[in-house]
Amino acid sequence: MPSSLDAYLGSASGQDPLRQKVADTVRHLAAAAVKVRNTIIAGGSGESLGASRDATNGGGDVQKELDVVADRAFLDAAKAAPIAFFGSEEQDEAVVLKPGEALAIAIDPLDGSSNIETNVSIGTIFSILPVEEAHQADPKSVFTQPGSRQLAAGFFIYGPQLLLVLTVGNGTHVFIFKPGFGGFVELTGSVTIADRAKEFAINASNYRHWDPQIRSYIDDCLAGTEGPRERDFNMRWVGSMVADCYRILVRGGIFLYPGDGRQGYQKGRLRLLYEANPVAFCVEQAGGAATDGVNRILDIVPEGLHVRTPLVFGSKREVERVGRYMADPSALSERSPLFGKRSLFRA
Ligand code: F6P
Repeated sequence: MPSSLDAYLGSASGQDPLRQKVADTVRHLAAAAVKVRNTIIAGGSGESLGASRDATNGGGDVQKELDVVADRAFLDAAKAAPIAFFGSEEQDEAVVLKPGEALAIAIDPLDGSSNIETNVSIGTIFSILPVEEAHQADPKSVFTQPGSRQLAAGFFIYGPQLLLVLTVGNGTHVFIFKPGFGGFVELTGSVTIADRAKEFAINASNYRHWDPQIRSYIDDCLAGTEGPRERDFNMRWVGSMVADCYRILVRGGIFLYPGDGRQGYQKGRLRLLYEANPVAFCVEQAGGAATDGVNRILDIVPEGLHVRTPLVFGSKREVERVGRYMADPSALSERSPLFGKRSLFRA
């Protein structure tokens, strides 16, 4: 009999009061995710979930009805949990809930919202951070902690199944919502990302805006058996990071959203606090890697709640390889006409 989320959280937190608060928070978030899932399945009780509102969110994207429904559901969950500060993509400033409490949440209530009206998987991404005494005087400072400080992180996927990918810093675990049971049960033991990748995920329509290093990396994947990689790659791009990340957890691969030359995209599209950090924590706990191309995501010190970061994550060897292209693409032996076919360093 697989372990329930409740039982898993109970044993993961033991007698540690802070860990018990984290567990309590995850339980509340899971209940909110079930409500969001029910709203999606019901088709939004008459309202069009994918309808655009006349507004942009704190992250600068156009808001849709479901973004707001999800934001409310998770804010209510946070109010019921031991949460001092709630920092959401949908709100310009963090909301102060219970000052003096031990935890803060950074959350993207609805990831992949461009996919809402197309019935493609979407999700919720969350990061749970500690609130220490120093943060109480200046709530904004809580969201300047690097991702390595996260106590727990994960994401829900509203897809054919409602899944929760979760790490509390002890491996990455996947739970599935069982309507008959009325809760989440563990789907797999601790997940391990395959070391080598055969699939890459990137929005290739931005090719002309990328730096030469990213172009070189993708060119080499596309060249397949006839190129320096000497093997064929497949490409997948769902456009909902939660879905792309889950696929990579299941069968390996690499995801890239680099900075590019479009106005406002120097640091890519994705947000450090509530997109890159939680994904990076889950990916690392599953044996993968996550960087901004060069630096480990979890080491980056954020300047504020809505800052962006380039993001590369997935199979470790592949992410490291992107790092080598970024450092000096011309130095790669594989790309050199002289050594291309007989390099000892081919990975
Ligand atoms: O805003 C986040 C997000 O929707 C991710 O889920 C997804 O990976 C990315 O943006 C899609 O970006 P684009 O619209 O450039 O393909």
